[in-house]
Amino acid sequence: MEQLSYLYTFLTHDNPLTEKLQREASGRDDIQPFVEIETARLISLLIRLTGTKKVLELGTGIAYSTIWLGEAVRETGGSLLSIDNHVRTGVEAAENIRSAGLIGVVELISGNAEEIVPAMAGEDSGSFDLIFQDCGKYLYPLLYEDIYLLLKPGGVLVTDDTLFSVTKGIRKGLGRYIDVYNAKLFSDPRYYSTMLPVGHGLAVSLKLRRKEAE
Ligand SMILES: C[S@@+](CC[C@H](N)C(=O)[O-])C[C@H]1O[C@@H](n2cnc3c(N)ncnc32)[C@H](O)[C@@H]1O
Repeated sequence: MEQLSYLYTFLTHDNPLTEKLQREASGRDDIQPFVEIETARLISLLIRLTGTKKVLELGTGIAYSTIWLGEAVRETGGSLLSIDNHVRTGVEAAENIRSAGLIGVVELISGNAEEIVPAMAGEDSGSFDLIFQDCGKYLYPLLYEDIYLLLKPGGVLVTDDTLFSVTKGIRKGLGRYIDVYNAKLFSDPRYYSTMLPVGHGLAVSLKLRRKEAE
């Protein structure tokens, strides 16, 4: 698209490794797609704007988005926890975090988010300033309430791929989960949300403090 080609002439990477990973990705069919650079920069900007310290990412992949978020929390003096259950790409992600110089800022958790997130919500509720949801799409509706619990009041939920059901070339089945998720999110008075046509759709939601939600 003409507009995207134009904006790509301006958007630069914060860490040289993400540029390399993006360049190499077009020749690989063994990894899942990364967030687009405009999405990555928007989330990084949100973290910087709000001075966000504690971030949770669901869906690390080979750590492309993790490096972007990690660079932002390094700036704010915060930390990032990222969860993924894919063992082979997890090894690559750990190597990429090391190469990006983000050890001590980013912690990777290898395991099933379907089990880990509810367990964390039971123990650590209200502990994250920002949660980035980019995991298996079937998990979006499933983990909805646990994510709400994990987010502190005044915290931000960023959800990728919220336009999947109207995006060409995306498996129709995945759009079904997203439709259920969007219906929940956009009718939920506990959040103030918007959706942007960035990448495959990005929802940004503020978890309202109790008074604001009444
Ligand atoms: C779209 S990819 C993440 C891409 C990454 N956020 C980026 O932009 O570079 C989705 C990831 O979710 C992970 N995933 C899917 N189901 C999962 C589950 N049940 N538990 C943990 N991770 C899961 C996949 O292994 C995959 O790496």
